[in-house]
Formats: sequence, structure tokens, C-alpha cells
Amino acid sequence: MEDRDFDVGLTDLQMPGKDGLELLAALRQLRPATPVVLMAAFESVQTAAEAMRTGTLDYVTRPFEADALLIALERAFERRELEDGNRRLRRAVDRTGSFRELVGKSAAMNEIYALIRKISSSRSNVLITGESGTGKEVVARTIHFTGARAKKPFVPINCTAMPEGLLESELFGHVKGAFTSAHAAKKGLFETAHGGTLFLDEIGDMPVSLQGKLLRVLQDREVRPVGGNQSVKLDVRIIAVTNQKLEDAIQDGRFRKDLYYRLNVLPIRIPPLRERPDDIPVLAEAFLRKHSDDERYRFTEQASRKLMQAPWAGNARELENCIERALALADSHEIHSSDVLVSSEVPRQNDGTLHEMLLRTALEQRLSADELTESYIDAVIEAVHGRKSEAAKMLGMNRRTLYRRAERLRGEGGTERRSALTPCAN
Ligand SMILES: Nc1ncnc2c1ncn2[C@@H]1O[C@H](COP(=O)(O)OP(=O)(O)OP(=O)(O)O)[C@@H](O)[C@H]1O
Ligand SMILES: [Mg+2]
Repeated sequence: MEDRDFDVGLTDLQMPGKDGLELLAALRQLRPATPVVLMAAFESVQTAAEAMRTGTLDYVTRPFEADALLIALERAFERRELEDGNRRLRRAVDRTGSFRELVGKSAAMNEIYALIRKISSSRSNVLITGESGTGKEVVARTIHFTGARAKKPFVPINCTAMPEGLLESELFGHVKGAFTSAHAAKKGLFETAHGGTLFLDEIGDMPVSLQGKLLRVLQDREVRPVGGNQSVKLDVRIIAVTNQKLEDAIQDGRFRKDLYYRLNVLPIRIPPLRERPDDIPVLAEAFLRKHSDDERYRFTEQASRKLMQAPWAGNARELENCIERALALADSHEIHSSDVLVSSEVPRQNDGTLHEMLLRTALEQRLSADELTESYIDAVIEAVHGRKSEAAKMLGMNRRTLYRRAERLRGEGGTERRSALTPCAN
């Protein structure tokens, strides 16, 4: 009884050693939901079992017909199945604890779900803050795709990735001849997002001069393309996102206070993963399913414990990378703690021999300085979990340069430069 579960108990009342009532009491402790059928003489049932008769206890009185016992057992099995079904249902809800793409069942995430439900159909601007990798973009998408604007475009733009001049014409569009390379008129992302949502990623990196122009668009609800003199009326909801403290940026004069108030109508703060450990197992499970179709993968007890105890400085994104890596490392469907490498255990490139090896490989392959730089930039970004300002500090570059550089290097060789702009329909 202690070691394994069973569907239904069938026991006599009078037995040598422990009698049926003691057995029942123990069973109630261990497996309160397991139905039991008691076989007993009429008198003893009257005195004892009758009083205990509940949803999980049934009895047949001796002498009984085989059919009577079968019926009692069938009833018990049915009850058990019902109970299992309910439990499975409850477990499924517990386990997914999710809202669309968003996973998490902590109190903090439940608050965020409630907030999203409340605000998704409003047209007020939203400002999402949170550390890198906390899920700001998923929250933004969930707001859009669960709200009244879901059928209209969701248009993302990353403010860090764009040089200032380009960002302006991308946002507001331009007329033909607005500048030398403007051979044709171009619709801005604001116009593309009409009726829907414009997702401004890393708003804290928007150049101050452009902030003023953005503010004007938000106030007037109309946009004038670069070089043009006609404005277009627009209905666009802004979801802005930042992992910086905008209050500090305002202090330093890097961010306009008036724009901050315009954007911060509905604030959402996503706490770091270390403040909501309840989400770790559900996220880990969700990432496991996301990166493998094979449902047999399981974490061992120890692996689960390790996941719970890791610091997750890079938040959900780091956890996701870790799970993806674990799937690659696991040599069976059991994921052991040795497959779960948290950031401090991932081999770093500043190891002496690794460093030598790296340079030797670079020499052998006759890599150009740019190619070597690209690898290093990528490695640094990865090592700091995608926190661009930290990567920039390590590399001694400013964020903007870093981003452009990484983008350019990546697009190198192809005629089609990979754009940081990824307007998409869903
Ligand atoms: N609550 C969540 N449920 C499901 N997936 C999540 C959740 N939070 C984060 N993720 C996943 O983690 C990864 C990082 O999330 P996301 O890109 O939204 O983070 P972010 O806050 O925008 O990070 P950054 O500031 O670095 O841009 C994504 O793959 C995302 O799908
Ligand atoms: Mg993001």
C-alpha cells in the first residue's frame, strides 16, 4: 500500500493479525481517494462499517452472491475513474497554468494574466518593464492577440537596431525624394499598424530627438511622412518595452518625461524568474515540449531540484537555452542533473587553452578580423544572456554600435541584409 497505488481495495473485515478496520484506517491515511469494498458478516457491518460508509467505502454482507460482489466492485471502479478524471483535469490545469503563449502559475503571473484580460481591448498605451529574458515580448503579443485588435496587424520594431535617420523613416514613412536614396515613397510602420498594435522594443534606446517626434504623433494621432506635408490620421496602440529603468534615463536626460507619461498609461512589470520560483517547473516543462515532440522526456528528481535552485540571471530565456541544451546532451529520455547546465557551468571562452585553440583555429581558417569579431560578439552576447548593454560594456562598444555591427556582420556576404525589422501577421 505504501509503495504503489492500486485501483480498488477488496478486504475482509475479520482477519488474523490486523483486522479489516485497522487496515481501513491505514488505507484512509495513505490513499484517501481509493475506493474499498468490504466483505463482512451482517452483524459486524451493522455495528462498524455502516457508520463509516462514505463515497469511497462500500460493502457486501456475507454470505453474498458473486454478482453482488461484482456490482460493488464495478461501482468502485467507476468511482475511481471519475476521481482520476477529475484529478487529471486538475493536474492539467495546474501543470500548464498558462494563458495562450504565456506559461506560469505564480501569483505574479496570475496577476499579469488578469491584467492582460482587463487591458487587452483598451486602446491605451502599455509600457512593459522587466529584466532581459523575462518574457516582455510574449506578454506584448498576448495583449495584442487576445484583445479587440487581434485581427489587425502587430508590428514590432526594435529601436536599438536602427540608426536614427532610418528609424524615423521606418516609423513614419517618407515621400519620394525625401532624401537621396528615397527613390519611391514608403509607408511607415505606424501606417502599417493602423487599427492594430505597434510594438516598440527597447524604447529606452530611442534617440531623444526622435522621442519628440514620436510624442507628437501620439498626441495628434496622426503621422506625417518624412519630407511630406500631409498628415495621415491613424489609430495605433503602442506597446513599448524596456529593460532599462526609464526613471534613471529621464534623470540623465536620455528619455523625455512627457513621452514617458504618454507611454506609461498602463504599466506592466514582469518580475525576474528568481522572484517567482513557482514558474520554473512549468516553464521548464513547457520548453521541453516546445523543443521536442517526443513526450517521453522527463526530468529526474535531481535535475528538477537543480532547475529550482539555479539563479537564472538570464530569466526565462536562459532557462529555455538550458533546456534546449539539456535535450541535446541527454542520452536517454531521462534528463539528468548533469545534462542541466546552468550559466556558470557552460564552458566559457576565456579559458586559457580554449583561448589558444580559438586563435589557432582562426589562423588555420584564415579568418578575417571581421569574422573573428563576429564570433566574439556573438559569444559575448550569449554569455551575458542577451543583455546588450552588458555585452556592449564588455566589448567596449556602445549599444547602438554593437547592435548594428552584429547585424551587419550577420548580413555580410548576402545582398539581402537581414533587417531588424520583422513586421509579421501573428
Ligand atoms: N511566461 C513565459 N511563458 C512562455 N515562454 C516564455 C515566458 N517568458 C519568456 N518566455 C520565452 O523566453 C524567451 C524570452 O522571452 P522574451 O523574448 O519575451 O523576453 P524579453 O523580456 O523580451 O527579453 P529581452 O529584454 O532580452 O528582449 C522567449 O523564447 C519566450 O518565448
Ligand atoms: Mg525582447
